[in-house]
Amino acid sequence: MSAIDIRQVRKSFHNLEVLHSVDLSIGKGEFIVLVGPSGCGKSTLLRMIAGLEEVTGGDIVIGGRLVNDLAPRERNLAMVFQSYALYPHMTVAGNMSYSLRLRKFAKDKIEAAVAGAAGILGLTDLRERRPRQLSGGQRQRVAMGRAIVREPQAFLWDEPLSNLDARLREQMRAEIKKLHQRLGATSIYVTHDQIEAMTLADRIVAMESGTIQQIGSPADLYDRPANLFVAGFIGSPAMNFLGADCAVAGEGRTCLVADDGPRFEIAGLTGDPSGGRVTLGIRPEHVLLGDAAGEGASDAEVDLVEPTGMGAIVHFRFRETSHKAYHLGRAEWRPGDRIKVRLPADRLHLFAAEDGRRIN
Ligand SMILES: Nc1ncnc2c1ncn2[C@@H]1O[C@H](COP(=O)(O)OP(=O)(O)OP(=O)(O)O)[C@@H](O)[C@H]1O
Ligand SMILES: [Mg+2]
Repeated sequence: MSAIDIRQVRKSFHNLEVLHSVDLSIGKGEFIVLVGPSGCGKSTLLRMIAGLEEVTGGDIVIGGRLVNDLAPRERNLAMVFQSYALYPHMTVAGNMSYSLRLRKFAKDKIEAAVAGAAGILGLTDLRERRPRQLSGGQRQRVAMGRAIVREPQAFLWDEPLSNLDARLREQMRAEIKKLHQRLGATSIYVTHDQIEAMTLADRIVAMESGTIQQIGSPADLYDRPANLFVAGFIGSPAMNFLGADCAVAGEGRTCLVADDGPRFEIAGLTGDPSGGRVTLGIRPEHVLLGDAAGEGASDAEVDLVEPTGMGAIVHFRFRETSHKAYHLGRAEWRPGDRIKVRLPADRLHLFAAEDGRRIN
């Protein structure tokens, strides 16, 4: 299995650049997840790697070989799409073996490849069925089987689970993770699903408007987002943001006064933001409510309570803006209730107001 190097790759459609000098080095066997808002260029990047889109500038190197001008089939990659159109008149085994038959593999080789993939994917007993006799998840597994039998250099996945219902998605997500653990194949996976990104990725690549905003482990992006965009994009419910003014509090400490009321004192800011504007970020699960808020809590009002089963998302406001807290367990608060809220200073993310970069 191969490493993939994307070097200063650009893509334009009719003079409009949609990918701007993208650099990404993918290690052998690594599972990379691309995330970003609709239209940011995820599919375009994947399609260029697959050879389905021409590269406007830069190089794509797979396994040490420059592939810019190679046709898709010469790249030996397997791509699994959102719509996985199986051939309805062919059996499961027929669908899975189609590409090998096209390439005139020997019959025993084909049978062995199909049996191997069917075993891995739990399709052994379904090999003679037609697609219409399968559930959505089983069909999705056949599409994966079709990719596996080719023993590709790498797998490219473009939102493969987005057509499935929540339970099937959860099952298939685990299947894909197991498959990766078994085959160790280099994989690039595009998804809109936060949980898929967090659970599958060795590294997540967060993209916005054709540029990479951050590359790192799921924990890196979650715990130390590099800028406001990543902070707001990764995590659900999303991070809360509050505008604040900085003032010096002495001995390397900075006093932050949020427009919305709360005050904080923190140490160790890079640069000197004193006198400046910052944006404070705090994740909903780090907001402390009610008795848990303890000393130094502020008064707030409950706007809305959304029970999730495992807990509740509690919407509250200090003054104007509504923020969210994730409360684990039952929440007995009602809209209009007064509530104590504390945003622990050691859980704050700080971003420069002018360009959104992280400063703590
Ligand atoms: N064939 C094309 N011709 C012109 N513009 C295109 C073409 N394909 C994609 N684009 C544009 O390139 C940009 C990136 O599209 P792309 O499909 O890569 O986005 P994406 O990140 O995959 O979005 P989504 O999450 O909605 O699938 C978009 O602005 C899109 O409109
Ligand atoms: Mg897409």
